[in-house]
Amino acid sequence: MIRYIDDMQLTGKRVFIRVDFNVPLEGRRVTDDTRIREALPTIRRALEMGGKVILASHLGRPKAGPDPKLSLEPAASKLADLLGAKHEVILADDCVGDGVKKQVRELKDGQVLVLENLRFHKEEEANDEAFARELAALADVYINDAFGTAHRAHASTAGMVPFVKEKGAGLLMRKEIEYLGGVLKNPEKPFVAILGGSKVSDKIKVIESLLPKVDALLIGGAMAYTFLKAQGIEVGKSRVEEDKLSLATKILDAAQRLKTAIVLPVDHVVANEPTEKGVKSETPDRAIPADLMGLDIGPKTRAQFNQHIRNAKTVIWNGPMGLFEVEQFAEGTRTVADSMANNRGAVTVIGGGDSAAAVQQMGYGDKMSHVSTGGGASLEFLEGRELPGIKALETK
Ligand code: 3PG
Repeated sequence: MIRYIDDMQLTGKRVFIRVDFNVPLEGRRVTDDTRIREALPTIRRALEMGGKVILASHLGRPKAGPDPKLSLEPAASKLADLLGAKHEVILADDCVGDGVKKQVRELKDGQVLVLENLRFHKEEEANDEAFARELAALADVYINDAFGTAHRAHASTAGMVPFVKEKGAGLLMRKEIEYLGGVLKNPEKPFVAILGGSKVSDKIKVIESLLPKVDALLIGGAMAYTFLKAQGIEVGKSRVEEDKLSLATKILDAAQRLKTAIVLPVDHVVANEPTEKGVKSETPDRAIPADLMGLDIGPKTRAQFNQHIRNAKTVIWNGPMGLFEVEQFAEGTRTVADSMANNRGAVTVIGGGDSAAAVQQMGYGDKMSHVSTGGGASLEFLEGRELPGIKALETK
């Protein structure tokens, strides 16, 4: 069982909230603040409940100690903008030590203390016990709202938890568990999964986990070319994982045994090179000419995928349908997002990573039931694995 923040008593307590503020930066500018906005309900709830709020996160992968380029300062100032003038956001210059302890002691009602990047200490990723105890000593209550980091067994996501008196999950964590878990446990049928991205190898465990549960698995992105080649279809210069051809055949056989439809592209958007300068055309069928590469699903495939999505009651999507970063190869990804957004009667879940970025960028974010803030974490969750950051919150 997991306790959630709203069932806890926080008045006057020091509430340590592990958030995932690992946001993309350009210099000191946060280019996508989704993860910060998604943490707001938990932060606000803790403040309303009278807690003394301490936020902790990692940012990037610093190699050797503190790195000013990876300071949480841009994230903290973005948070200050989002929280508004009522709340003062203070950035500590470290995440442990006497200075931080003093700042925690002096924290006034309504103020928020953001600790500096946890990974400035190598002990965070090493899940060092002494470091975990130091973090734990700052708190009366531990809340984990960092779903995006829940697949890491680090000091702040796992190690410190037993050393804090009370533990629970935040509202974002709850939403992630409810939607991603709901899709795995009792999806309303028809249940359709759409997988894309470049590599079969990244998605193999997700495919194995979803295949027995879904009514149809739609496959786009470069990983589709490995499946097509495994069926003996000419895929030209398209990206293929040669060493995964037999695996692709095994998956296709397994789907047949389970009577699950695997829907592969029946036509493609192709070009001579994967850039804006590439000369684009469409193939009439599944085969791709020898001098061209597949870069997006074609119009017939888009129509087929749309049909499946329109009839579904549950849809989960992970991985873009093509090279969506280049506008002329973005149509397949946009069509899937659009079909999901238009199926208002279905539970629509975006399983994080690139597809979440695409959906946000194309303006469909608020039209989905849920857009996961995880990347690796969502994939591992969908693989059916137990995530250390969630396991640590379990009580008997
Ligand atoms: C993510 O962005 O996937 C999480 O914040 C985890 O980051 P990491 O892959 O550097 O551990």
